[in-house]
Amino acid sequence: MLNIILMGPPGAGKGTQATSIVDSFHLPHISTGDMFREAIAQGTPVGLKAKEIIARGDLVPDEVTCALVKERLAKEDCANGYLLDGFPRTIPQAEALDKLGPEIGREVSLVIDLSVPEEELVARISGRRVCPKCGASYHIKNMKPQVEGICDRCGAELIQRKDDNAESFQVRLQNYYSSTQPLVDYYKKQGKYHCFDGMVGRANLEKQINALLEENK
Ligand code: AP5
Ligand code: MG
Repeated sequence: MLNIILMGPPGAGKGTQATSIVDSFHLPHISTGDMFREAIAQGTPVGLKAKEIIARGDLVPDEVTCALVKERLAKEDCANGYLLDGFPRTIPQAEALDKLGPEIGREVSLVIDLSVPEEELVARISGRRVCPKCGASYHIKNMKPQVEGICDRCGAELIQRKDDNAESFQVRLQNYYSSTQPLVDYYKKQGKYHCFDGMVGRANLEKQINALLEENK
């Protein structure tokens, strides 16, 4: 079964690759970042807690994030596999997932990490535009929508994310190095870790990831 974690620094292309993986392998796309942004838009208690934290680029507390994921993974559509995008992001989150997986029969099978150098991350984040309605991601230079400022998939007006500014990006990156990168060794020890060069071009990367998933499905 494909129970996948997609990890990588901010702007590495997790959301972009996730879209094609979930289409090809019919998996639910569970992005904690998207879930928080939705909660913020709806003004739920989780959204109110997360709003300022996310805007400045910090991590939402583990207990809030883990509760959200626990509830989501228990849903019926995860019974035949799932794709986690941006979770876990800390060792305590990974430990919580390792405890939860066997309990609900949904243990992580593969971890896919996207490696992209820092200068490229800055360029990707500063030029990114996103669809607030369907979550699709574009870039003003290298992934333009057909009509400027408009989402190809649903026609909504594209926006820039609140945390896509130089200051918040630096906080996100530092949090990635200090809290998320230790997960590399954590999953290497479990024999689940696979790293991909995120600079090979979107379509090439898609092909390489697809090959790994085909082998393991
Ligand atoms: P989240 O939404 O997950 O943000 P992130 O990890 O910073 O990653 P991004 O979504 O910015 O980048 P991405 O890797 O998805 O790149 P994308 O495909 O869009 O989390 C946001 C916040 O929520 C966190 O900071 C935190 O506060 C909170 N949060 C979320 N999860 C949490 C957790 N588990 N614990 C605690 N807090 C949590 O691509 C980026 C750009 O590059 C786009 O413009 C795209 O068009 C372009 N691009 C993509 N692929 C390529 C390519 N191959 N070549 C060239 N350009 C490309
Ligand atoms: Mg994303």
